[in-house]
Formats: sequence, structure tokens, C-alpha cells
Amino acid sequence: MLKINVVGMGYIGTPLALLLAKNGYKVLGTDIDEEKIKKYQSFQINIEPQVNELINLQEVQMNINFSTEIEPSDVFIICVPTPVENKNPNLDYVVNAANHISKKIKKGNLVILESTVPPNTCQKIIIPLISRETNLKFPDQFGVIHCPERALPGNILFEYENNVRIIGGIGDNWLEKAKNIYKSFVKNEIILTTDTSAEFIKLAENSFRDVNIAFANQIKVLASELKLDVHEIISIANKHPRVNILNPGIGVGGHCIPVDPYFLISQSPSNSKLLKAARDMNNSMPEYTTKIIIGKFKVFPKKICIAGISYKPNVSDSRESPVFEIIEKLKAKNIEIVIYDPLVYPNQEEKLTNFVKGCDGMIVTVPHKTIMDELEHHKFEILDLLVGDKIIFSF
Ligand SMILES: NC(=O)c1ccc[n+]([C@@H]2O[C@H](COP(=O)([O-])OP(=O)(O)OC[C@H]3O[C@@H](n4cnc5c(N)ncnc54)[C@H](O)[C@@H]3O)[C@@H](O)[C@H]2O)c1
Repeated sequence: MLKINVVGMGYIGTPLALLLAKNGYKVLGTDIDEEKIKKYQSFQINIEPQVNELINLQEVQMNINFSTEIEPSDVFIICVPTPVENKNPNLDYVVNAANHISKKIKKGNLVILESTVPPNTCQKIIIPLISRETNLKFPDQFGVIHCPERALPGNILFEYENNVRIIGGIGDNWLEKAKNIYKSFVKNEIILTTDTSAEFIKLAENSFRDVNIAFANQIKVLASELKLDVHEIISIANKHPRVNILNPGIGVGGHCIPVDPYFLISQSPSNSKLLKAARDMNNSMPEYTTKIIIGKFKVFPKKICIAGISYKPNVSDSRESPVFEIIEKLKAKNIEIVIYDPLVYPNQEEKLTNFVKGCDGMIVTVPHKTIMDELEHHKFEILDLLVGDKIIFSF
């Protein structure tokens, strides 16, 4: 069986490593974070419940090891972060990971890049870097494949197994090799294309989501100006057979949708007017929401409880969450903020009722099921609907 080194034990690399081990591959999960690797070595994994449970399977424990050191392997799969800084992609993590694995790559090895990257990253950065560092020739002596991850946090395992998968690269042998690896757990279609197309497809998908969310937010702002109920407007408009307006929100968070459009925008700013406008619209929502929140209080609030700070309901991931910006803006107006989020802070022992003591109101910024269940047990006077299904309560 092939030995596979999955590089980067985060939200994306961890489930992948566990699934490959479950399906019989000899897997080494590596990360530069020593603390994380120590926890993983004692089988403490905290991604999401179904993923965490995989580590308890006997076949997974038999096939997987964790280390901070890359080891010689048949296949290396890179799953490291690709953040944006000042609206530009930061590829340092990918370049560092490619440098690290280059020290161990041998003739016949395959490198798969799962991280989301701007178009031409494989062709212009990864392949030349590995060729230079190893003196191996591409594509005769080593392969590079881009296999973008498109799973939905909160439902990662199901989507790893059931989504259509895209595998892009040059060289039929490398494409087939990669396809065989993913076939071990992907039950849906696996589509083969070029590496640059695969890079572009992933970015087009998330930009599509961003533009559609921006449209819903635009409709929300315009309808509110006219004091119209945006939810009624959208639900009736969606009865049209060719209309499907999404729910508006308080902004766009997470590691993908607010980030990935910049990968396209940065390569051609003057030809990305729509993508830029969508980003601007969605970036403006925390400011808009802050004004709405303050406007809902009859008396200017001194202290508010914010319930939910992750980037969407029922996940513990708070990266790029628009709630942080709302909190900063409220604090800038000298409003004291108490934060309650039992998913992001699992050690919060007190219940919601204790957090709201002494507050002038509470805003359910992210309606986690656990928060909504707690609310059901207590009587709160609902002041008004805020946005989407997020609600302001007073007590
Ligand atoms: N989280 C998602 O929902 C999601 C979905 C689809 C695609 N992606 C993409 O997948 C990639 C990984 O995202 P993530 O959410 O898993 O990130 P993450 O931050 O959860 O995990 C990345 C891990 O990589 C480690 N790392 C950084 N540099 C390293 C190196 N040189 N060697 C070894 N480990 C290193 C970090 O310590 C971290 O543990 C990103 O490009 C992201 O855009 C993420």
C-alpha cells in the first residue's frame, strides 16, 4: 500500500488523513504546530464530532502516525492555509510546505495540492520550485496535481465522501494515480482536468457564492430603507421559477468565501469589477448591522451580550467571522460586550442566563442550535428581527 504524507493537520488535512488511513493507506500526518501534533499523537482531535470519532477506529489507529517531521513517502498531500493579507493571497505556507517536502521527494513521487490557490500556482510556483530543489524533471520524474477541497464545515465527512471531486494536472499517469487514491473514499464522480482549470473552478465556485450573498444583502439594505420586510420580499420573489435569492446576513465569514474571490481579483483587478463590488457589499454588512443593533434599543445600551461568534451556526470555527467586527464597532461606542459561544469556547461553564445578567439586551448573532435550545427554556421579549434568522432579545 502507498505511504501518504498529509502536510497540514487542520480542518481539511485532518479528515483527509483519517479517511485515507481508514481505507488502508499508510498515512503520516505532519504539522509545524508541535502542540497539535502532541495532542494528535494521543488521539485527541477536535475538528467536528464525526471527524473526531474516526480516530477511535482500530484500522485508523493501525495505519496513521503523526509527526512534525516530513518523511520519505510515495505521495505528499499539501493542506496548509492560504490566507489573504491586504486583499492579496499569501502563499508563504504553501511555498514553505513545498520546500519542506522537496527535501524528501524522490523519483516517482506524486505531490497533490489541496489548498485553495490562485490560478497558475501549480505551473508557476510549485512545479518550478520542486524541480529546482530536487533536480527531478516534471512530469517524467514527479507529478503535481491540484485537487481542491470543497467540503462544507459542519458536514465535512459526508461531503468528503459524497461530493463530486475535481482532479487537475498534467500527465495521464499522475491523474490516474491521484484518482485511484481519492476513489478509495469518494463515492461520487471524479472529474479529471488540468491543474490550472481545477484552481480556477474552486475560485469560481466560491466567488459565485459571494456574489449571490452580496445580492441578498443589497436587497436587504434597499428593502429596509423602504421599511419593507425583506424576508417576505425574498420568499415571494423566490416563487418565480428562475429566481433563487439567498438569505441576507451580517457579513460573510469563514476561511473560503470572503477570501477566495481576492485570489481572482488580485490577478486581474481591472477585469474583476463585479467580484470587487460583491466583496465591498459583504464587507460593509458588519457596519450596517452595528447601526441596526444600536437603533433597536429604546435607550442607548451600556452593556450587550453577543451570543455566537463563529462564522456560521453550529461550527466552532470563528475565522473571518463578521461578528468580531461588529463587537469592535460596538466597543468603539463605549458599549461593554459579553460574549457567549459554547462551541467556540467549550470551557464556558456558565449558562446563557448568567451571561446576560446586567446586560441591556442580547443579540443572537449566530443561532447555534445549542443557543436556540437554551433560549427556548427562558422567556425573553423579542424586540425585532435583525437579519436572516438572527434575533435581538431583551429581558
Ligand atoms: N476550512 C475549510 O472549510 C476549507 C474548505 C475548502 C478548502 N479549504 C482550503 O484548505 C486549505 C487548508 O485550510 P484549513 O482550514 O485546513 O486550514 P487550518 O488553518 O485549519 O490548518 C492548516 C494547518 O497547516 C499547518 N501548517 C502551516 N504550515 C505548515 C507547513 N509548512 N507544514 C506543515 N503544516 C503546516 C498549520 O499549523 C495548521 O495546523 C486552505 O487553502 C483553505 O483555503 C478550507
